[in-house]
Amino acid sequence: MVRHPSQLLFLAIAIATLVGGSQGANILGLFPSLSPSHLIIQMAASKVLAEKGHNVTVVTVLEPVVTHKNISLIQVPLTKEEAQQMSDTFEAMSKTDNSNMAVSMLRMMGQMDFAFKKNAETLKDDRVRDLYLNKDNKFDVVLSGYFMNEVQLGLARKVNAPVIVVATLPPNQLMNSLIGNPLEVAYVPPLGDSVEKGRTMSFLKRLTGYTTSLFFGIITFLTDRRNRNLYKEVFGDDPSMPEYSEIIKNTSLIFYASHAPSEGPIRPNVPAAIEIGGIQIKDTPDPLPQNMADFLGNATDGAILLSLGSNVKGSHLKPDTVVKMFNVLSKLKQRVIWKWEDLEKTPGKSDNILYSKWLPQDDILAHPKVKLFINHAGKGGITEAQYHGKPMLSLPVFGDQPGNANGMVQKGFGLTLSLLTLEEQPFREAILEILSNPQYTQKVASFSSLYRDRPMTARESVVYWTEYVIRHHGAAHLQSPLVHMNWIAANNIDIYALFAVILVIIILLLKAVFQFIYRRCISKTKKEKIL
Ligand SMILES: *[C@@H]1O[C@H](CO)[C@@H](O)[C@H](O)[C@H]1NC(C)=O
Ligand SMILES: *[C@@H]1O[C@H](CO)[C@@H](O)[C@H](O)[C@H]1NC(C)=O
Ligand SMILES: *[C@@H]1O[C@H](CO)[C@@H](O)[C@H](O)[C@H]1NC(C)=O
Ligand SMILES: *[C@@H]1O[C@H](CO)[C@@H](O)[C@H](O)[C@H]1NC(C)=O
Repeated sequence: MVRHPSQLLFLAIAIATLVGGSQGANILGLFPSLSPSHLIIQMAASKVLAEKGHNVTVVTVLEPVVTHKNISLIQVPLTKEEAQQMSDTFEAMSKTDNSNMAVSMLRMMGQMDFAFKKNAETLKDDRVRDLYLNKDNKFDVVLSGYFMNEVQLGLARKVNAPVIVVATLPPNQLMNSLIGNPLEVAYVPPLGDSVEKGRTMSFLKRLTGYTTSLFFGIITFLTDRRNRNLYKEVFGDDPSMPEYSEIIKNTSLIFYASHAPSEGPIRPNVPAAIEIGGIQIKDTPDPLPQNMADFLGNATDGAILLSLGSNVKGSHLKPDTVVKMFNVLSKLKQRVIWKWEDLEKTPGKSDNILYSKWLPQDDILAHPKVKLFINHAGKGGITEAQYHGKPMLSLPVFGDQPGNANGMVQKGFGLTLSLLTLEEQPFREAILEILSNPQYTQKVASFSSLYRDRPMTARESVVYWTEYVIRHHGAAHLQSPLVHMNWIAANNIDIYALFAVILVIIILLLKAVFQFIYRRCISKTKKEKIL
């Protein structure tokens, strides 16, 4: 094939340009999220890149659970007062009903103010400012964790690198505009809602979906205004920085923590929308700690995993709810692993219950003896259970949890009860139903096989697309023109208006013509009558 040395040289250069530029790149991750489950997904994506040999620097507020030796961490932790305030907020939220996502988000705007402020403060931290002030730092791409925090896209501009947004949600209205992803309210249910596979939305569902999209419109308007102000506050001192409205038109890709072919909804996505659902899940589980391995290994009647997530700690639960849960669980023949923070003060002693402050949740769910996962309907936990094909009983509390739980039940993967009104009998009945009726396990197992069937694993997608953006310096060629269009042009309102004007002119003309003919006829008949 190669006939001349110069061809060989050419080939070598071609390969070098193709491969080079993305080997050992410098990557900056901005993950100041206050949600531990969001941070897990964001850090999992960073870890994959560090494992590939890239130099990854991440900025966080929380202490990350997922780490890697080659990830350098800049943590801007919560102060004691802030930590208390956040804990109080979660406690307050766990005691109110939040079954509609858009409404509960609107209600949470006050509390979210705290998250916005912390986000801006993180960007003003000296170590973070040093990332762009110190000219020795050079970044090839920035990963920006999404939480309605478009302000931090400014930092990507400061370090002059393309930006990939890492979203812990499926494609949705809140971040559509960043990459010009279409909003399809007629057949795509809003965030937190779902429609049975193969079904269209009923009139009522479309009406709810449409109204919800208006709510999200208000939320977007409010957060946009706040981000605009924070942008001025954080980057306003630099006259070379572009307007906020330009900063939000520069996102190369969004990584979504979802997988539409298995999870739905089936919807159109622009090429810049990349789904990496399940990124936090290991392809092969790690061995369990010895005590858990023994405990599960000897569970002849199967086992249950109970974990209510990291935000709602055991102590946030009402004490009598905990007693009720213990009364039911301690009388089961199955063994139970219960995630419980305070080992000094457990809900009660029982041979079939193992309390643990920390859980390798993913590895436990992979264990064949585990027959049921009782959770708080956090997106992460549900994803892991779905990946491993384990049925669930969800006890949602706030935020997106009730929606996640309803979606899970609708797919037939389990049942849900409200944690706030939990009673012994329905709790026991739900557990026994899921353990004895095979349909839940069958449904989730068949989902699991769809979920894993992909051309590229989530990890491979993260590596490929991140290096793609680096190779093509932001990959602006992928960008949808919609990003640069205003609302009127994007919806052809001006064209409809033009048609309306033409229609009105035609009607007026026709009217004039008819009136003219009519008058001529009348005057003619009058003349005839007179004659
Ligand atoms: C960390 O990066 C160095 C090169 O900078 C590499 O030699 C080493 O293998 C990496 N460590 C891991 C655990 O990937
Ligand atoms: C990794 O990136 C950071 C931030 O730019 C830099 O300070 C550090 O020297 C880099 N490390 C390597 C091994 O390139
Ligand atoms: C589990 O079984 C092993 C033997 O297979 C035994 O050594 C161990 O003590 C048992 N553990 C528990 C918790 O029953
Ligand atoms: C964003 O801006 C940078 C220049 O700062 C450019 O290289 C990159 O291609 C842009 N990305 C998009 C998606 O427009």
